[in-house]
Amino acid sequence: MKRSPTLPLATAVTLPASVDNPHYRQIGGEQAVRRLVERFYQLMDELPEARAIRAMHPPDLAPAKEKLFLFLSGWLGGPPLYAERHGPPRLRQKHLPFPIDTAARDAWMACMNRALEEQVSDADLRAQLAASFFKTADFLRNQP
Ligand code: HEM
Repeated sequence: MKRSPTLPLATAVTLPASVDNPHYRQIGGEQAVRRLVERFYQLMDELPEARAIRAMHPPDLAPAKEKLFLFLSGWLGGPPLYAERHGPPRLRQKHLPFPIDTAARDAWMACMNRALEEQVSDADLRAQLAASFFKTADFLRNQP
């Protein structure tokens, strides 16, 4: 998906830094993104430090998993599946009902960093992805 000056700010800011983003291919394509999302939510379910953010989600995580997979496909530079099915992600607006402070951001990142450590063996790629996820998670923060 090309970044365009006409995109709403919330959409533009949640895109990763590079327009020609090779991350989707580097990480291993669709199956690898699905595995990452699966493990991420499993960790959110299990890690004590994620209890507060797990409680913001409904008991059934399947719809959240599917939406995060669709979103990450485009965000990582692969097929823009979320936008095709649901329109512009407007992630900041969609997260406003949830109180996201630095602790919530860090809990989300703890799950994602652990999933990345387990599933992305290339250290440079892992560091780039972790930095991009952090930028987005911090952008979604809506509490001091
Ligand atoms: C910073 C901490 C974060 C918290 C506490 C959080 C929490 C949530 C919650 C509670 C939902 C609703 C789930 C549901 O109703 O099934 C949600 C949806 C979603 N989140 Fe997050 N999230 C965070 C960060 C992120 C990040 C960094 C991304 C992307 C990289 C992301 C992507 C999404 C997507 C794509 C959805 C589905 C939106 C939709 O309804 O279409 N979230 N999040």
